[in-house]
Amino acid sequence: GDTPVPAAQDWSWQGLFGTYDRAQLQRGFQVYKNVCAGCHSLRFIAFRNLEGIGFNEDQIKAIAAEYDIEDGPNDDGDMFTRPGKPSDYFPSPFPNEKAAAASNGGAIPPDLSLMTKARVAGPDYVFALLTGYEEEAPEGFDLSDGKSYNHYFPGHQISMAPPLYDEAVEYSDGTPATLEQHSRDVVAFLNWTAQPELEARKELGLQVILFLIVLTAMLYALKRKIWRDIE
Ligand code: HEM
Repeated sequence: GDTPVPAAQDWSWQGLFGTYDRAQLQRGFQVYKNVCAGCHSLRFIAFRNLEGIGFNEDQIKAIAAEYDIEDGPNDDGDMFTRPGKPSDYFPSPFPNEKAAAASNGGAIPPDLSLMTKARVAGPDYVFALLTGYEEEAPEGFDLSDGKSYNHYFPGHQISMAPPLYDEAVEYSDGTPATLEQHSRDVVAFLNWTAQPELEARKELGLQVILFLIVLTAMLYALKRKIWRDIE
């Protein structure tokens, strides 16, 4: 169709030696928490996992405690809410899919934990989506009520109003809060939620290659020694 291919962005985690930028992941978390979490769940991530983006135990306890977690039944058979603990998972913003659809014009905001893996060109696509809104649909395009025009969403009509804009979130590290920066940062965070093991995976790969190089050199030296007297 006429959906453009998302432009390839530079991401810190790309390439053989690429790693996550912890400050960026924390900014991205700030964006998720303040904006996306109103509609999108992150059900594979527990608060304790935030250690991976550089938060310490006290910070994690404080973040968890900001959330109300539904628990129970207690001894009286009742459900109750209590402050979150590090072992809890991020709670869903809606009690069920019906409620989610009812609040979003019939569309269900998908879980974001694995979103950068679930879509083709994942991180580039989500970045393009977040920065790809048009205030008005082009001439002759029949945009349904309550939908927004987006260049990158298949069919261009999306039930998610533009979630980000300049100054949507005030960064605690002083980074300029532009639409582009917010989008870049939240995509980095979502790439981490989808691939928290990326750095360990790359490091192990490099160690394996290094080991194989050393082993090959040793076997070659051994071969020369064994065959030294044979012409
Ligand atoms: C869909 C990301 C905030 C409501 C989506 C999709 C992504 C996404 C990647 C999937 C698009 C696709 O299917 O290809 C984000 C991010 C947010 C954010 C990163 C924060 C920066 C919000 C907010 C709302 C919302 C605040 C509600 C007010 C929806 C809905 C859909 C959706 C209803 C389904 C759209 C459709 O199928 O037409 N979002 N979102 N999102 N989002 Fe968000």
